Amino acid sequence: MIDLHSHILPGCDDGAVDLAAALAMARVAVSDGTRILACTPHILPGLYRNDTVGIEHRVKVLRQALSDEAIDLRLVVGADVHIAPDLLQKLTDKVVPTLNGTRYFLLEPPHHVVPPNFNAFVERLIDAGYIPVVTHPERLTWVAKHYDLIEAVGRAGALMQITAGSLTGQFGTQAKALADRMLEEGRIDLIASDAHNVSGRSPVLSAAYSIVEEKVGAETARNLFVETPARILRNADIRAVGMDVAQSVKREAETKSRTSRFWRMLQGR
Ligand SMILES: [Fe+2]
Repeated sequence: MIDLHSHILPGCDDGAVDLAAALAMARVAVSDGTRILACTPHILPGLYRNDTVGIEHRVKVLRQALSDEAIDLRLVVGADVHIAPDLLQKLTDKVVPTLNGTRYFLLEPPHHVVPPNFNAFVERLIDAGYIPVVTHPERLTWVAKHYDLIEAVGRAGALMQITAGSLTGQFGTQAKALADRMLEEGRIDLIASDAHNVSGRSPVLSAAYSIVEEKVGAETARNLFVETPARILRNADIRAVGMDVAQSVKREAETKSRTSRFWRMLQGR
């Protein structure tokens, strides 16, 4: 599997506290079946001031440590990028890294507040040639009441990344209900661990993989945990699944309204 969201880099955010913790996370990831892991520390102005140069350096150091310890895990550069007004400029200036230097990057909306003009913000990034991968929409507390915003940014072409632990119920009933709904509606592009440690938030994907396989089949599971992450790392073209769901849901709604108009006509109403 390929895990595109982790806080494994030591000492630069609320993830691994030191090198020993990072190595422990790497061992758990490998034994769970992960072969490639993106190092994606938070970038949040005023709190986590990570940038491309710093992250690249830390990844290099961790790669060497993995090699010294004979841990067979390939690391790639990334970041968990919080929404900020100057984000597009920072991407253009390469101060904020994308995933493995591609057009794809992790975009983390605020957890408890609806981001103003979210759709327009995402469209501007896409128009500029970047593809946001929206991180864990199912865990954002405002999404239950504003699901239409997630539909809209999916329709605009943003990818949706769900946290593996949401499907196993680790983040509570609301996150699980939203993750299940998005899975059933085919609105998920990829699943990642968003690991921070080896206890509560570990880099384990296999349990969620089994759930996905059972609910929607082996092909979708492979797409969400292997194929789409691999395409992202190759910078290949990806059509966001939300673009097509939106169309089919719209078509269904139109058919329903046409049918009910027809019956009303027949009944002389
Ligand atoms: Fe994260």
